[in-house]
Amino acid sequence: MARPLLRLLLLVLFVAIGRLGPLAVRSEPIQDRAALLAFLDAIPHKQRIRWDANSSACEWVGVTCDANRTAVVALRLPAVGLVGPIPAGTLGRLSSLRILSLRLNRLSGPIPDDFAGLASLHGLYLQNNLFSGGIPSWLSQLTGLVRLDLSGNNLTGEIPFAVSNLTHLTGLLLQNNRLSGSLPSISIDSLVGFNVSYNRLNGSIPRTLRRFPESSFVGNLDLCGRPLPPCNPFFPSPAPSPTAEENPVKSRKKLSKTSIVGILVAAVVVLLLVLLLFLICLALLRRRRKQKAAMTAAAAAAGEAAGRSGGTGITSSSKDDLSSDVAGSGAATMAGAAEKNRLVLVGSGGGYRFDLEDLLRASAEVLGKGSVGTSYKAVLEEGTTVVVKRLKDVAVSRREFEEHVETLGQLERMDNLLPLRAYYYSKDEKLIVLDYLPVGSLSSLLHGSRGSGRTPLGWESRMRIALAVGRGISHLHTSARIVHGNIKASNVLLRSDLDSVVVSDFGLHPLFGSAAPPNRVAGYRAPEVLETRWPTFKSDVYSFGVLLLELLTGKAPNQLLTGKAPNQASLGEEGIDLPRWVQSVVREEWTAEVFDVELMRYPSTEEEMVQLLQIAMSCVATVPDARPDFPEVVRMMEGIADRTAST
Ligand SMILES: *[C@@H]1O[C@H](CO)[C@@H](O)[C@H](O)[C@H]1NC(C)=O
Ligand SMILES: *[C@@H]1O[C@H](CO)[C@@H](O)[C@H](O)[C@H]1NC(C)=O
Ligand SMILES: *[C@@H]1O[C@H](CO)[C@@H](O)[C@H](O)[C@H]1NC(C)=O
Ligand SMILES: *[C@@H]1O[C@H](CO)[C@@H](O)[C@H](O)[C@H]1NC(C)=O
Ligand SMILES: *[C@@H]1O[C@H](CO)[C@@H](O)[C@H](O)[C@H]1NC(C)=O
Ligand SMILES: *[C@@H]1O[C@H](CO)[C@@H](O)[C@H](O)[C@H]1NC(C)=O
Repeated sequence: MARPLLRLLLLVLFVAIGRLGPLAVRSEPIQDRAALLAFLDAIPHKQRIRWDANSSACEWVGVTCDANRTAVVALRLPAVGLVGPIPAGTLGRLSSLRILSLRLNRLSGPIPDDFAGLASLHGLYLQNNLFSGGIPSWLSQLTGLVRLDLSGNNLTGEIPFAVSNLTHLTGLLLQNNRLSGSLPSISIDSLVGFNVSYNRLNGSIPRTLRRFPESSFVGNLDLCGRPLPPCNPFFPSPAPSPTAEENPVKSRKKLSKTSIVGILVAAVVVLLLVLLLFLICLALLRRRRKQKAAMTAAAAAAGEAAGRSGGTGITSSSKDDLSSDVAGSGAATMAGAAEKNRLVLVGSGGGYRFDLEDLLRASAEVLGKGSVGTSYKAVLEEGTTVVVKRLKDVAVSRREFEEHVETLGQLERMDNLLPLRAYYYSKDEKLIVLDYLPVGSLSSLLHGSRGSGRTPLGWESRMRIALAVGRGISHLHTSARIVHGNIKASNVLLRSDLDSVVVSDFGLHPLFGSAAPPNRVAGYRAPEVLETRWPTFKSDVYSFGVLLLELLTGKAPNQLLTGKAPNQASLGEEGIDLPRWVQSVVREEWTAEVFDVELMRYPSTEEEMVQLLQIAMSCVATVPDARPDFPEVVRMMEGIADRTAST
């Protein structure tokens, strides 16, 4: 009895297992299977991949499914002779994929955009193919990525900063591509393998990536900084000197946390001592006065002697105090110096966050040597670009410098003025930091690349630039009561919106003292400034008048004369005296000859052009008092602009 029952039970069990078995095998990631087949159909490959249509996709070579066989989680097809671009809508549909390895094939084209949907991806191995195009920015959305290997392809463009979003990354391998630009400061703590060697990168290696060995960075166009050889210094560092004052960066680095605390404590102690000393002195002085007052004439001599001995007592005791604390006070000076030699942000600082070290590490390019000093374009890590001016011949003390620059920094919200963002003052270097505007200056717009390939600058554009500049300087004069002192076309910086053109380098002349002539470009300098060497509101009006003439004639005041212009307008080596040239041409009734040929395409606006010419000529009157003031100039120009707009 028992036997048949057992047999029956066993039979039932076997049948059940027999049913279950094939059922389990047949359970299939149906959609993923279709995606895989579509991929293999569309892409040439060697016969090594034989995906048997009769068996489950989970059994296929290179395919791994999850535990209940509902999805493909890994696809590994290394060196199977895949050729050409990955067809869209195939692998990108494997939405549960965690590992994708297609290394060592001949896949080409861009990395497909639909990979952006592979949200579970942990490892992406596409190395040693022929992928081209850029590193896609959507990679930063695949925040589960642990390993990303794109090395040995033909990738171009920059490494996106957004890669920093991949906070679980342990390996980022980009070597042997054709990537360019500078390295973003990728800051991923978990990163242990990093390689960008043999690309075309340039610029300095960001602090966050310095822990990787030299071999992670070699073979690039122009990478520099630790662990590679140092970058060309942004500006020649001052001669090595033992004092903190003259070598700010070094001293900053040397100060550890504990020594900073020590220095602070010492500074406080010294401060308290000085205060105490001062109070004692004050008290003694007061007592002495009282004594003096109370003394009779006869006792005066004796009293004074007593007072003198008291005085020497103080000095000697103060000497003792100081000598007993010499180390402390020395440290305090150093702390003071380190603090003082900081880069100081002024105003809102433009939202910038960087310090002197960042600036020193930035890659820099000389923009020009101007009358106030040399300007550099500095590209900081993370792509912030600023202009740094090394001011030369600064003739004021640190305090005066700081006060003045802070004042200028307060003007940051005024339209049409280029805000000053930060400054640095040390014995050897005085820097100011300004926004970088990529479009360039009015000078290069007016005088650069004349001839073929140039888009002519029309009347309306010139008028808008003139008004924007006029408004900027008018604000400066009326709201801030500051003289610009250096108006010229190369200090007018363009923006794509011509109404928001800005004026730079304003109000700097007080820093140079009267030894250095303002407006060293002779053509813009008002005649009286040659003697007084000090610009005024009225001399600004003169310079602006020259600028208007420049806009109207297309001639640079510092350009040498050619052609039939009367030669008494020549300033010799220094160029032309634009006002005199215009006067002579107008006097001889060639008014039309005055205007830039590019403006002659607009005959209907000649009347307005003549009106602007008249305003300009009133600005360049020889006698300062005969010139209008700035708000008046702007009002007159607005009158013309209104008429231009209404016609
Ligand atoms: C797949 O199954 C079909 C019929 O079910 C059969 O004709 C074919 O030979 C099988 N293919 C392979 C590779 O086993
Ligand atoms: C099996 O599949 C279901 C849904 O498809 C999923 O929620 C579950 O986690 C899977 N189980 C395993 C062990 O993968
Ligand atoms: C960074 O990752 C988050 C998810 O963690 C994502 O929402 C965001 O879009 C990513 N940022 C970028 C720039 O891709
Ligand atoms: C890499 O791409 C460039 C064009 O961007 C192409 O000229 C070159 O042949 C490619 N190199 C390889 C090995 O495919
Ligand atoms: C890096 O190279 C790009 C283009 O090749 C160039 O525009 C940029 O100025 C270079 N930067 C530095 C710091 O040399
Ligand atoms: C980076 O890649 C290059 C080229 O493949 C190799 O020579 C170098 O050893 C690698 N460096 C590291 C740190 O992996």
